[in-house]
Amino acid sequence: MQLINKKILITGATSGIGLKLVEKLYQNNNLYIIARNQHKINELQDKFPAIIAYKADLKNIDELQAAVKQFRLETENLDVLINNAAVQYTPTFIDNDFKFESINDEITTNFTSLCCLCYLLFPLLNRQSESIILNINSGLGLVPKTTSAIYCASKGAMNIFSQSLRHQLKDTHVNVLQAFLPLVDTPMTKGRGKSKMAVEKVSTEIIKGIEKTILDHDIGKVKFLRLINRLLPSLAKQMMEKS
Ligand SMILES: NC(=O)c1ccc[n+]([C@@H]2O[C@H](COP(=O)([O-])OP(=O)(O)OC[C@H]3O[C@@H](n4cnc5c(N)ncnc54)[C@H](OP(=O)(O)O)[C@@H]3O)[C@@H](O)[C@H]2O)c1
Repeated sequence: MQLINKKILITGATSGIGLKLVEKLYQNNNLYIIARNQHKINELQDKFPAIIAYKADLKNIDELQAAVKQFRLETENLDVLINNAAVQYTPTFIDNDFKFESINDEITTNFTSLCCLCYLLFPLLNRQSESIILNINSGLGLVPKTTSAIYCASKGAMNIFSQSLRHQLKDTHVNVLQAFLPLVDTPMTKGRGKSKMAVEKVSTEIIKGIEKTILDHDIGKVKFLRLINRLLPSLAKQMMEKS
């Protein structure tokens, strides 16, 4: 699918990878976003006035449903849904600053909301002769690290969900893709990690994956992680435990 004159809905477009995707896709496509922060929405629309925004906090499923309802009133079809928004909390279960509420927040934002969006927007996607759901995943969805257990689990769940949904939709017009990212230099990873991939390069790869319909697109170091995990799973576990 060539990303020209397409209707594309992106979550998490106010920062990091989502923002870079907006910068790259805006010129040639019609962009829609679902975002929670009105100030950031305004800033984005100042720079990209044709963007149509729907306000919802993804951890509030009622708000999300209302936003999609509004979107469906105004738009009859959709070419690409990019499920990109996520949060990652780093305290472990034995840290004093671990917040109990963060468990539900992280699972709802990173996983439940995405399942809801796929379900609610499927009819619009299936009206096109070819359409795409792209779920932005992580190497941590393949092999978890020690911190951010809920984040890793939400990405693992995304992987299983995406594969099953792909089976469910195989006789429809909707392709279900995943992009598995390495550590990327964005606000999410500020102050931690080394040798991060640049957001510019990652977003170029993501767009290439959509245009070539790559089902499970391993980007950067994730290619090696998947290979090591296949050949020597205990080594992959050891590497990631220390990362
Ligand atoms: N950065 C990495 O190293 C890395 C690695 C692998 C995978 N990924 C994945 O790449 C995607 C983008 O990450 P990023 O690094 O670009 O992160 P980021 O810069 O922190 O951006 C996250 C985006 O998600 C939005 N968001 C978070 N919680 C939300 C909620 N409850 N409701 C609505 N929007 C919400 C944020 O909105 P606000 O601006 O309002 O906060 C922001 O636009 C995520 O799926 C992440 O898991 C990232």
